Amino acid sequence: MTEMPPVTQASEVARAKINLALHVTGRRADGYHLLDSLVTFCETGDRLEIAEAQENSFSVSGPFSAALGAPTDNLVLKARDGLRQRLAAAGIITGPVAIHLEKNLPVASGIGGGSADAAAALHGLLRVWKADLEPQEGKALLLSLGADVPMCFVGTPLAARGIGEDITPLPQMPAMALVLGNPLIGVSTPAIFKALERRDNPPVGALPALSDLGGWIDCLSALRNDMEPAATMLVPEIATLRAMLDAEGALLSRMSGSGATCFGIFETIEKAKDAAAKLRRQRPDWYFCATSTMSA
Ligand code: C5P
Repeated sequence: MTEMPPVTQASEVARAKINLALHVTGRRADGYHLLDSLVTFCETGDRLEIAEAQENSFSVSGPFSAALGAPTDNLVLKARDGLRQRLAAAGIITGPVAIHLEKNLPVASGIGGGSADAAAALHGLLRVWKADLEPQEGKALLLSLGADVPMCFVGTPLAARGIGEDITPLPQMPAMALVLGNPLIGVSTPAIFKALERRDNPPVGALPALSDLGGWIDCLSALRNDMEPAATMLVPEIATLRAMLDAEGALLSRMSGSGATCFGIFETIEKAKDAAAKLRRQRPDWYFCATSTMSA
């Protein structure tokens, strides 16, 4: 029997994105909002398995796979096709791939699930195809997939400005222990942007130079998520969720992105795990997860 050549494959984690602060500072002529956001990423996330195959395929599994829309609308396939097209234009021919997405994160929940899946697909496909794009081509592809996709491609603490594509790494942001909570009510990002009362809020301002958690908590306490009031009007459970995180001893709680996921920052991962277990007992019908965030 002839030996089969080794199949090239890649496993990627599509990490949950957390907006520790999100200020809406203006609006562009095309309607997109200008943001100033402090962003970190969690160890927890969706998982992607990508392998060379005889033909293209896309399959999904996991606790939130049923909440996904039609596979043809999935950003993972848009990422695959967009990358393939740009590589073809550069004279690089790519073979068929089997992609499997394990959907562990709630959908339409303000933690960048779809964007992180697209970014992880690009990381995996570049490895499987042993290819790379010119930096400008890469940036254009990432942004064409969504305003949050460039930051998800970075995956470590950062400040995001512009509509999210102007990225500055924040190596001094410490890893944090979080509890994520979601009432499992999907939120439409454009609907929240439309409902904003103000679009001219002040920017984030000066950041701590050191990685001590206390200094970061003090800094974050003075900041906001400008989308939270509008999201809470539509989904009042967001206020309940924050009160529950606070009651379990969170040093700070806030909504991420356009919601409805809220996070609580805890002193240690053990305290975060205890809090998540208690919160799950209080609301077994909601999503709770204790996780650490990535350091630079
Ligand atoms: O870029 P993405 O497709 O993820 O954005 C979804 C929608 O959110 C956009 O169509 C726009 O209405 C809104 N949006 C915005 N300003 C941003 C990002 C998104 O108004 N910076």
